[in-house]
Amino acid sequence: MTDTKVALITGASQRLGAATSRQLHQRGYNIVVHYRHSKKQAQALASELNAIRHHSCKCIQADLDQIPEVEILAQETLASWQRLDLLVNNASGFFSTPIGECTEQQWDNLFGSNSKAPLFLSQALAPALANTQGSIVNMIDIHANAPLNNHTLYCMAKSALKMMTLSLAKELAPNIRVNGVSPGAILWPKPEQEMTPQEKQHILSGIPLQRLGHLDDIASTVAFLASANYITGQIIAVDGGRSL
Ligand SMILES: NC(=O)c1ccc[n+]([C@@H]2O[C@H](COP(=O)([O-])OP(=O)(O)OC[C@H]3O[C@@H](n4cnc5c(N)ncnc54)[C@H](OP(=O)(O)O)[C@@H]3O)[C@@H](O)[C@H]2O)c1
Repeated sequence: MTDTKVALITGASQRLGAATSRQLHQRGYNIVVHYRHSKKQAQALASELNAIRHHSCKCIQADLDQIPEVEILAQETLASWQRLDLLVNNASGFFSTPIGECTEQQWDNLFGSNSKAPLFLSQALAPALANTQGSIVNMIDIHANAPLNNHTLYCMAKSALKMMTLSLAKELAPNIRVNGVSPGAILWPKPEQEMTPQEKQHILSGIPLQRLGHLDDIASTVAFLASANYITGQIIAVDGGRSL
């Protein structure tokens, strides 16, 4: 078994997951980048990190809606470096589901990536995480507490992930710590060039700090929780005060 710590970040090919991967890699972790469709971006990230440190990053593909694929992801992760210190449940489906138009397929998709897969992945990796006194960080959302218009299924799924965080923190103690990060507005909800000044102002007006967060604000909070040895069962909102 290697002495180097290992982190698995789901949905890590781009955006918050990629920023978290870079931050943890910089802090000395070997990284398993999980992706579903974004193979090119995942491989580019792996090349970038492997150029910094040889054989320090590996990509694994899996559709987290399929529990057998979740199990294989867990096995392949452990086969990479024979240890795991940190699981970041970051992958997430996100789309609106206005009431009157919700379908069972949308339920399965939003609950699959946002709560079902994190539970089964955590369960499969718990013995390995216990061996290293490791931890789990779940990417939740401030909308697990306060509903987002027309996003009932997403908010319900994140709310389940919030409860999973609290529940597993108790159940997996004392060997594994389980915490969460709830990002506020970090990236615009659609490409910036498609946002009108009014839409941007509407979002900013709800944020006491009057600006979006930065990818590194999230990544450094995940890294902090990974190293905070006496913190478990906590969910940190990184939202510029938006949830106040
Ligand atoms: N961005 C924000 O401002 C914000 C705000 C609040 C909360 N969050 C939370 O923070 C986390 C990261 O946010 P983000 O905006 O960076 O995420 P994102 O880009 O929306 O999604 C990350 C990745 O999740 C993967 N994914 C989705 N469904 C999947 C499935 N069924 N199986 C496997 N992979 C799946 C996708 O991988 P592929 O592309 O490879 O298919 C996607 O690239 C998420 O949990 C999100 O809910 C973000």
